Amino acid sequence: MSIVVLISGRGSNMQALLEAGLPVSAVISNRADAKGLAIAAAHGVVTRVVDHRGFPSRDTFDAALAQEIDRFAPRLVALAGFMRVLTPAFVARYAGRLLNIHPSLLPALPGLETHARALAAGLETHGCTVHFVTEKLDHGPIVIQAEVPVRKGDTPETLAARVLRQEHVIYPRAIRWFLDDKLVIRDGKVRVKGNDAQVLTCSD
Ligand code: GRF
Repeated sequence: MSIVVLISGRGSNMQALLEAGLPVSAVISNRADAKGLAIAAAHGVVTRVVDHRGFPSRDTFDAALAQEIDRFAPRLVALAGFMRVLTPAFVARYAGRLLNIHPSLLPALPGLETHARALAAGLETHGCTVHFVTEKLDHGPIVIQAEVPVRKGDTPETLAARVLRQEHVIYPRAIRWFLDDKLVIRDGKVRVKGNDAQVLTCSD
């Protein structure tokens, strides 16, 4: 039933998973200086570092990462601010059990700097998405989204903070659904058994 969480930095989403009581058996970072490693350790969770800089290619890094992940035989691999593009072989290995959280309402704004881009585009609504990972970056069947309003005077930072609060709500929820076998993927779309809401609208 366990989860391996992959991080590269702050680790606030990982922390939300731990605080939700989800069964995280290990946290792996590609950076030794990722702040989230200390948070995981403080929760008594095993941490590992697989530094991408020690490998000559994406393929060799991903193979080493997979080897480390598989030691924990997880049911689910959760990307939580893991800042590496994954190879098709890695994605295929964990097909159907690899989730990511992305700070936009996909398919809008894949990639980086989503909050600045949302403001530049004059969007009135922004948010975050949990999705299954497929080969194409920030695509893949969507499990749950939370919408937040863009407020007058927002900066990328204020908007990011509003979105992040919702990330911490939807990621644990999505993972709980996965572990409870409530997610059904059909024709590239995810349905939740029991019809729990897959779009949250938040007005704070
Ligand atoms: C989050 O905004 C997440 O959506 C994105 O990277 C950020 C990671 O933040 N993929 P944290 O490390 O979870 O605090």
